[in-house]
Parts: sequence; C-alpha cells; structure tokens
Amino acid sequence: MAQAIGSDLERAALLADAFRHALGLAAEMVGATAPNPTVGCVLLDAKGKILTSAAHLGAGQLHAEARAIQLAREAGLTGQIASVIVTLEPCNHQGRTGPCTEAILTTPACEVWYALPDPNPVASGGADRLRRAGLRVLSLADMRHPDREDLLAWATRLLAPFSTRVQRGRPYVTVKQALDPFGSMIPPAGSKTFTGPEALTLAHRLRRRADAILTGSGTILADRPALTVRHVPDIPGKSRILSILDRRGRVDAAYLDEARQNGFRPRIAMDLGAALRDLAEAGCNEVLVEAGPALLRSVEAEGRWDEWVLIEKAPPGQDDRITITHNTRPA
Ligand SMILES: NC(=O)c1ccc[n+]([C@@H]2O[C@H](COP(=O)([O-])OP(=O)(O)OC[C@H]3O[C@@H](n4cnc5c(N)ncnc54)[C@H](OP(=O)(O)O)[C@@H]3O)[C@@H](O)[C@H]2O)c1
Repeated sequence: MAQAIGSDLERAALLADAFRHALGLAAEMVGATAPNPTVGCVLLDAKGKILTSAAHLGAGQLHAEARAIQLAREAGLTGQIASVIVTLEPCNHQGRTGPCTEAILTTPACEVWYALPDPNPVASGGADRLRRAGLRVLSLADMRHPDREDLLAWATRLLAPFSTRVQRGRPYVTVKQALDPFGSMIPPAGSKTFTGPEALTLAHRLRRRADAILTGSGTILADRPALTVRHVPDIPGKSRILSILDRRGRVDAAYLDEARQNGFRPRIAMDLGAALRDLAEAGCNEVLVEAGPALLRSVEAEGRWDEWVLIEKAPPGQDDRITITHNTRPA
C-alpha cells in the first residue's frame, strides 16, 4: 500500500489545495448532474502531487472517483495513487455505475479524504466500508487548516440541491424576484421585464443551474415568457420541467406546445407542495421560481424556499441592487 502525504503542516496545505481543486471541478458541473449531486475528485501521490482529477459529468456516467481512477489507469499512474480527495463521501452502492468504494479498493490508495457525508441513505456507508478495508478515512471537518470553514461552506452549498431533495423530498428552491423603484413586481405595459443587463444575466445563470422552472398561470397569461437560457450558454442537451400552478386551467395548449418546442417538459400543478414533491420525484435537485406576487406570497408564507434573489431596479443612472437571502428555517 502506498504512503500518505508527509508532515502535518505540509499535509494540511496540500489537502486544502486538493479540496479547492476538487470543489472547483464540482462547481463547473452545477446544473448538469441531476438527479445526482455535483462531485469532484483529486488523486494524489505520496508526495501530495496531483496525479489526475475529475468531476462527475452527469447521471449514468462514472462517478468522480471512478473517473479519476480511470484517467490514472489510462495514464499508467495507478501504482502511484496514495490519497483520494473527494467532495462527497464515496458511494457504497451499486446504481447505474458500480460502488466507488470498490473502485478505490482496486488502487493502492491508503487514505481517503471526503468533504461531506453522503446524505442519501441508499448510497451512504462508504467511509465505514473503506475503514473496514484498512484505509485511513477522514472528512474535511477533521482537516486542520485556516481555510477549512470556507471549504466546508462551499462544499455544503454545492451539495445543497441534492441534499435538500433527498432529505426534504423537495428540490432546492431559488426564488427570483424583481421590484421596480416603487416596490412593484409588475412591469410597465408592453414589457416583460424592467431590470438591467446585469440582473438579466444573473436571471439566466439561475435558469441554467435549475432543473425545473416553477411559475403561476398569472405570469403565463400576462407575459407568455419563453423562460429559456439565452444570456449565458446553456448546458448542452439539458431539458427542464416547466411546472405551472394553474388550478383554473387558464393556460392554453398553444403555450404548452411552445414550451415543448423550447425544450421544456410542461406540467400543470394544483398545489405548491404537491408541485415540489412531483419535481423531486422526477429527480430535480433545483427549481427556480419565476412567478408573480400571488405565487411568491405562498412560497414565502409556506417557507418553501432556500435562496431568495431580490433584484431592485435602481432609479435612472444607478445600478440595480441585488440581494441574496438564505432561508435559515426552510420547510
Ligand atoms: N417582477 C418579477 O419578478 C415578476 C416575475 C414573474 C411575473 N411577474 C409579473 O407578475 C404578474 C402576474 O402576477 P400573478 O400574481 O397573477 O402571477 P403568478 O403568481 O405567477 O400566478 C398566479 C396564479 O398562480 C396560481 N397560484 C398561485 N399561488 C398558488 C398556490 N399556492 N397554489 C396553487 N396555485 C397557485 C393561481 O392560479 P389558479 O387560481 O388558476 O390556480 C394564481 O392565479 C405579471 O404582470 C408578471 O409580469 C413579475
């Protein structure tokens, strides 16, 4: 079995760098992996040098650890693997791909560092499995480095859409709300928006990462919005669910056809809780709510949100104000 990295100080600095690298890889895949989480992995040799690194690219494809190991194998580096650094506890479960624990055990790695435990009861237990096999298994919380809390916060935020779905039975809910200088959400007649280019780009980045858009019939009837990703490049091949709360059946078939042509899978829902449960069951990790005041009142009153992005249109000559609030007691 290969040796782990040298002294404690050197180890902590190398580990922090490796975690930062792995988290960066995972961050690049935000929005691309549902129903799976975004995960990054780095393989180090005994001196702490990076051998290979990889992210999970999407459902049905190799997990990050297995992909990094495959890259090492292809490069003839397997014999040098000493440490596995990964943003999520390796899975211990045969899904569409094999368990990552077993992939790690085919290598000479003697230690595994993971950022966060797997919140999915079906796939958890990887750390124990590897420990039983004789590996040294530690989590980011055990790392002694000044960047530990920042790295943990980053890892937690990256995992939040997946952990919200598996633990709460609903997707991570981001709300986007734009207000004019008078506090109204209603755009002037003949316009669908009143915010500037920066806010528009942000809105499209939020759509890009979402697996579904949730809206109300009032918004569809007023604006017939496309709700597609246009101001930033979209994730290639991604299709989103468009969930519309429309108890009175006011949304016409022509709009639903347009939505299908725009790559959406539209669904009509009668109740906010049921709509979110339905999206979670369909494997959506994150939903973006782009709706008018009526639906936003329900989302807020029921506490069914995680991140609230408020865009306040500034008077002429000033920049719009963007505030992001995280729900400390989400339902
Ligand atoms: N500034 C912004 O950020 C922004 C964003 C989007 C839209 N808008 C504007 O908002 C205006 C439309 O406002 P709105 O309040 O009518 O739109 P909305 O909230 O998108 O849609 C309201 C409709 O959604 C359904 N609904 C709402 N809450 C529900 C709940 N808890 N359960 C089930 N169904 C629910 C109801 O339809 P049923 O009774 O038929 O079920 C309700 O009439 C438009 O002018 C649009 O431009 C502004």
